[in-house]
Amino acid sequence: MAEEAYYRLRTERPAAPNGCPVDHGFSPFSENYVADPYTVLRDLRANSPLFYAEKLGCLVLTRMEDVAEVFRRSDVFGAANVQDPVLPICDGAAEILSVIDYDPIAVLSNRAPPDHTRIRKHTHAGFSSRRMKVMEPFIRRRCEALVETMRRNGAPADFVAALGHPLPGETIFRFIGFPEADDQDLKDWTTNRLAFTWGMASEKEQIAIAKKMLAYWRYCVAFVAERQRNPGDDFTSELLGAHAADPDDLGYREVVSVVYGLSFAGHEIVSNLLSNGLINLLSAPGLWPEICRNPALIPNAVEEVLRCNSPQTSWRRVALEDTELAGYKIPAGTQMFLSLGSANHDESLFDDPGTFDIHRTNARAHISFGRGIHFCLGNRLAMLEATIALETLTRELPSLALVADQSFSYVPNFTFRGPDELWLTWRGEQCTTGIGPPPGSGRQ
Ligand code: HEM
Repeated sequence: MAEEAYYRLRTERPAAPNGCPVDHGFSPFSENYVADPYTVLRDLRANSPLFYAEKLGCLVLTRMEDVAEVFRRSDVFGAANVQDPVLPICDGAAEILSVIDYDPIAVLSNRAPPDHTRIRKHTHAGFSSRRMKVMEPFIRRRCEALVETMRRNGAPADFVAALGHPLPGETIFRFIGFPEADDQDLKDWTTNRLAFTWGMASEKEQIAIAKKMLAYWRYCVAFVAERQRNPGDDFTSELLGAHAADPDDLGYREVVSVVYGLSFAGHEIVSNLLSNGLINLLSAPGLWPEICRNPALIPNAVEEVLRCNSPQTSWRRVALEDTELAGYKIPAGTQMFLSLGSANHDESLFDDPGTFDIHRTNARAHISFGRGIHFCLGNRLAMLEATIALETLTRELPSLALVADQSFSYVPNFTFRGPDELWLTWRGEQCTTGIGPPPGSGRQ
């Protein structure tokens, strides 16, 4: 059982593949991309759908066909680079994480077959239909309680702080099996993790995040040891059961590393999905009243949010051998920036792709959860959370509206997208917790 580092610091910068168009300006950190990636991507897709971005040292793919092909050819395009910090980590942060007992390993998103296949078999079993059924009442109860608190505190409210951030955090913590009493520490340790790997965190921020990562890893080590002594009905206990049944097929450090990675994989990204969804649903006239009247539209509306305004706009791969793609010769070692956001707006697959349309019949053809052997393990949990959040909000706050004239700010980063704050308002509705009020149509 070979073990691989959780992430690597890369310094090499492969050159542009021969004959490939070179773009000197493209950067997901640029102001215009952060403000509106889809306009930038539409122009790139039209003019130069595949190019080498000099600023990133990456080959950028913008068409669905090319992105899907790279995901599919996992023997040629590996995922070893997906957790590597996109910008250098400062010495202070690297030193904090160099202590001997900080030793998580690559287990899923950046692990290659055959180990990935072996570990994924056990983790996939943990995301069973039964586990979703166990989670559902918890998500519903917490969602209702958070909406009720938000409503009681009065409009306007920042949705991100009131519900968008806490709900996915608590959901993933209960899924893993962490005790509720530790939620405050857990939320503190796991926040801002995306900024460390994919963002432009300052040295001071990197050091603060590295300290939290270390504290959280140590917590995970202690927690898994405790669960080994006292199993519960949770994902971690299931993994430990698989480890006990065959320690060669699922190692103990692999179990701890899966637990460690999961709260990052399943937290901030779901917060962003919820916020992006509300921005889309509350921006277009008539959409919110429509789903209030007909909640059966919610699942497809969530798929359309994932297509049109995905919380994850890119992912990475690296060429493992010399190969060809879209008519270009790609040398081994080429780093690739797969633009999921662009592929989701590809005109050859989606009519009028810039329009948010909850009735779109092929909304599910998006690629926001990836495709192939690394396809998102948490997709059902994310869909469940988003569906329950929208069911609860449409029922409890049918007059929900965006606070007028607000502009949204986004943390500049390589991969993820969601507003820092989202201000909402509503009329003075009473909470029903289950008994639906007459469908609302009003905005303030
Ligand atoms: C809207 C929410 C989410 C989106 C858009 C999303 C997106 C993705 C993407 C693009 C990948 C990489 C796929 C690839 O490399 O082919 C991925 C992998 C993964 N996701 Fe998610 N994710 C979401 C929520 C979650 C949640 C809630 C969890 C956990 C509870 C989760 C756990 C994982 C794991 C463990 C992997 C690695 C799977 C593997 O390599 O086998 N994700 N996700």
